[in-house]
This record gives sequence, C-alpha cells and structure tokens, in this order.
Amino acid sequence: MDVLGIDFGGSGIKGAIVDTNTGELRTDRFRIETPQPATPAAVLQVINEIINHFSWHGKVGIGIPGVVKNGVVLTAANIHDDWIGYPINQAFSEQTACEVVGINDADAAGIAEVHFGAGDNEKGMVFLLTVGTGIGTVIFINKHLVPNLELGHLEFKSKTIETYTADSVRKDKNLSWPEWGKRFNKSLAYYERMFNPNLFIVGGGVSKKMDKFEEQITIATPVVPAQMQNEAGIIGAAVHLAHL
Ligand code: BGC
Repeated sequence: MDVLGIDFGGSGIKGAIVDTNTGELRTDRFRIETPQPATPAAVLQVINEIINHFSWHGKVGIGIPGVVKNGVVLTAANIHDDWIGYPINQAFSEQTACEVVGINDADAAGIAEVHFGAGDNEKGMVFLLTVGTGIGTVIFINKHLVPNLELGHLEFKSKTIETYTADSVRKDKNLSWPEWGKRFNKSLAYYERMFNPNLFIVGGGVSKKMDKFEEQITIATPVVPAQMQNEAGIIGAAVHLAHL
C-alpha cells in the first residue's frame, strides 16, 4: 500500500509517498519550514500544502514530537502547548479530506529502523533513541513496539536525560563532541542498567556524526547509528498506518 508519510520536526515538516511493503520512498521528499509558532492550526496548513503538492487522496501518517494515544496528542515538551489534548486523527482527517493518523515521532523512526534499517536482523530488545532538539525513545521486543515511552524525561543528574544530553544542549552549551559524548555515554549506561537491551540504535542528527563521539561510548551493549537517517520518521509514520 502507498501512504503519504510526514515527519513534523522542529525546523522542517517533510513528506513523501512511501511504499509500506518495502519501506522505499516512491517520490522525492518535500519539505516546508516549520511555522512559528507551530500551533495545530499552522501545522495543519502545512500538511494541506504537502497533500496538495503530491495531489494525494489516500492515507496520511504523521510523526509528532509528543505522546499520541488513541488519536490524541497528550504532551508537548518541545512544541506549542495547544497540542496538549489535540485530537489529531479526527481534526486533521476532517480538515484534509484524507484519513490521517498521528504517531509519536520516535516510535515512527523506530518502526522504520527495526523493519528496514539498523535493527532489521536483531531479535530481543532493541532500544532506539532519536537525539535532536529533544530525546525520543522507543523499545521493541522482537520487533513489537512498546509505544509512547518517554524515557528522555527520566530524571538524571538533577536534570532529565533530555536536558542533560539532547543535541540542543550540546549546541546551547557549546560542548565539544567528546564532552557531549561522555554525557551521552552516561545516559546510555543508565538505560543499559535499567533496561538491558540487546542493541541501542542512535537516530536523529547525531547519527551522522558518530565518528566524532564513538570513542566516548564505552558501554557493553552494542550502539549503532540509525541507517535511514532523515527518512526514518516519514517511512515509519506511513508503515504504522498501513498495519493498523
Ligand atoms: C518528546 C517525545 C519526542 C522527543 C523527540 C521529546 O521531548 O517528549 O515525545 O519523541 O522529544 O522529538
């Protein structure tokens, strides 16, 4: 089945038509700057522009940087507060004339990686992190998703894992890659102690820079970069919808 997959990120909202059987993109990605403020109404307008760009009439899966439960967005750590309690599936379906289904962005990226990317051959527990403005987390057990885990918000070192280790923290504090890498390794070590996964997959912008901090990663569990990089969110949001 073909589904329009969309990834709602801090700087861009990107979409492409996805073949959900193979995880391949059928079209180029189309990107629009994220409106500021990124209220539901402003994002809806962008979604409609993306739908029109592809002359799309089918289903639309959207990755959202917050918890999405029963079609409703429940949290908004790094997005506009108007998202809290927003019934995205119903509201966006009504206002786009397409069937729209939202999913947490890290869950979407994870679905793409465990089916078509870095976790493809892995059994047991896979723990994926998306490291960007925030930290998204997702766990799969034999490729089954445990949805909406918000482990980036666990308290850690008088902060949270997110406010200690996100890529935005590296930039704001002007940390060198090794300095940031040490922090990241401490966060991974904490997750390792708590969850004992078989594999960590690192997604988000830092996955392309792993050579700059891999020396600081000393935990016993293997840590690999995501393979689908900036397409994972689009692909996973589409694949999730196709298998509902
Ligand atoms: C949000 C998560 C999201 C992550 C990455 C966190 O701040 O709470 O829901 O997956 O950022 O965007």
